[in-house]
Amino acid sequence: MKSGWRLQIQTGCTNTKAQVSQILKYCNSRCLAVVPQGGNTGLVGGSVPVFDEVIVNMSLMNNIISFDKVSGILVCEGGCILENLITFLDNQGFIMPLDLGAKGSCQIGGNVSTNAGGLRLVRYGSLHGNVLGLEVVLADGNVIDMLGTLRKDNTGYDLKHLFIGSEGSLGIVTKVSILTPPKLFSVNVAFLACSDYFSCQKLLMEAKRKLGEILSAFEFLDSKSLDLVLNHLDGVRNPLPPTVHKFYILIETTGSDETYDRQKLEGFLLHAMEAGLISDGALAQDINQASSFWHIREGIPEALMKAGAVYKYDLSLPVEKMYDLVEEMRTRLSDSANVVGYGHLGDGNLHLNISTAQYDDGILTQIEPFVYEWTSKHHGSISAEHGLGLMKANEIFYSKPTATVSLMASIKKMLDPKGILNPYKVLPHS
Ligand code: MLT
Ligand code: ZN
Repeated sequence: MKSGWRLQIQTGCTNTKAQVSQILKYCNSRCLAVVPQGGNTGLVGGSVPVFDEVIVNMSLMNNIISFDKVSGILVCEGGCILENLITFLDNQGFIMPLDLGAKGSCQIGGNVSTNAGGLRLVRYGSLHGNVLGLEVVLADGNVIDMLGTLRKDNTGYDLKHLFIGSEGSLGIVTKVSILTPPKLFSVNVAFLACSDYFSCQKLLMEAKRKLGEILSAFEFLDSKSLDLVLNHLDGVRNPLPPTVHKFYILIETTGSDETYDRQKLEGFLLHAMEAGLISDGALAQDINQASSFWHIREGIPEALMKAGAVYKYDLSLPVEKMYDLVEEMRTRLSDSANVVGYGHLGDGNLHLNISTAQYDDGILTQIEPFVYEWTSKHHGSISAEHGLGLMKANEIFYSKPTATVSLMASIKKMLDPKGILNPYKVLPHS
């Protein structure tokens, strides 16, 4: 049904918040633990049961409820797959403010619950800024309607923020209202090589200053990450001549004026080349080449999985210190592992991954707690965007003071006194 600029889309859906509410009411009354599950694409075990929990999978709550073309506000159910929302919005001339490699399976409710970051946070900001409202079912089955569609609303505590990033430990997200930007048609992607990490940092500073409002992604990978992709993924080619460079940067610009944007990017690249910041580079000539550049960056996690066992760390660190950790880890592990660094340089987010033939307790003790201590010493975060889930819950104190964790535990106790929602996740087990 269409009314003016507002599309009212929802059909008679069969799975509803009332059912989620009934399930939680029942489980709460019998002290049955529950794991809320979206696309199950998380990387820290946040959506998997540990013992005998009941899984509440949200896949069938996948209706788009409304879309307002004037404001760009989309309201949908928590089980909508991110890629389906991207496709829906594309047809309306809009985009999601969030994009990640797992878009084909991850769900918006899970994205919100984990405060997923992704590839374009540098441009559009985090979900704390883009989510305007939520409908959430609490552990006791109560439905909390915070599904506002207002950009401004200063009437008391903004409780939706408690649920963004709480990884299903405080409630199940059943509906989301999100602000979406218009789709701009002039997109350019460059794949660049840098000979040292200092040049990557300088390039980031220059890109922010010179590309300004059109910069939409600034991603980096080291040569070991590129090797993994070239060796383990079919059909991936290095867009640059086969000289070995230490670092690679993917820059994307998105704007509304093709000629102006292209000139701006070309001018920036020329300047960076002359200043010696980039040693080589390729500018995508069409959309296929642009997506092949993206495929290199987005393919790294898959290549790592194919290479064998992998120890994954997702860290926020001051940009100037970030790569020191990768190098120190290489020195620590010498030849026993392949240590790779890639991530969202524009957001100060390093994905440190350690690839080995198989899991080995000896290697793990070389990595942890060193990696957490190092991050804490440099005032970083031990989880930039993947959450704590089950795997990192006990490490929370490396990033949060005791008093803060105690307050988090009190909030958990108040909203879920029987502790049925996603037990053993987020908060330390002991
Ligand atoms: C990425 O940026 O590719 C993701 O966060 C996934 C990962 O690091 O495995
Ligand atoms: Zn990432």
